[in-house]
Amino acid sequence: MAIEQTFSIIKPDAVERNLIGAINARLEAAGFVIVGMRLIQMTVEQAQNFYAEHDGKPFFDSLVEYMTSGPVVVQVLQAENAIAKYREILGATNPENAAAGTIRHDFAISMSKNSAHGSDSPASAEREIACFFGESKIFTR
Ligand code: PPS
Repeated sequence: MAIEQTFSIIKPDAVERNLIGAINARLEAAGFVIVGMRLIQMTVEQAQNFYAEHDGKPFFDSLVEYMTSGPVVVQVLQAENAIAKYREILGATNPENAAAGTIRHDFAISMSKNSAHGSDSPASAEREIACFFGESKIFTR
């Protein structure tokens, strides 16, 4: 299987509860290499641009408000089959539907406070990584 990069956000609810280390320990144990990582507070413009595909949906404004409400960790993760593998480890968007042992099952609070984001396709991963990381900021191994 191909080595891929995927884009991850550790969301405000997880950062606030000191879960950065716990989440990244799971990722490293699962074989991901963190090749890019920054702690940032997104601007409204960055969040609107990042979630543009959801513009017009009823939750769009609250999603942007939530994602700009506090610091988040933006990351680039590298592994074999990274995109699908990270989505599997994350679990379903709604933590009530997330499988036991997944990050969202174990840490998430609600549909919006669901602790982490992962790209859903190679095209999304490329677009999302480019939103926050220039090539020189990624330490590909
Ligand atoms: S959709 O419409 O099925 O494509 O949306 P979904 O993939 O379920 O969710 C997309 C992201 O929006 C967040 N979300 C919400 N935020 C706030 N309030 C509500 N009700 C809500 N529903 C969904 C959800 O956490 C997803 O965030 P990401 O970062 O993509 O995981």
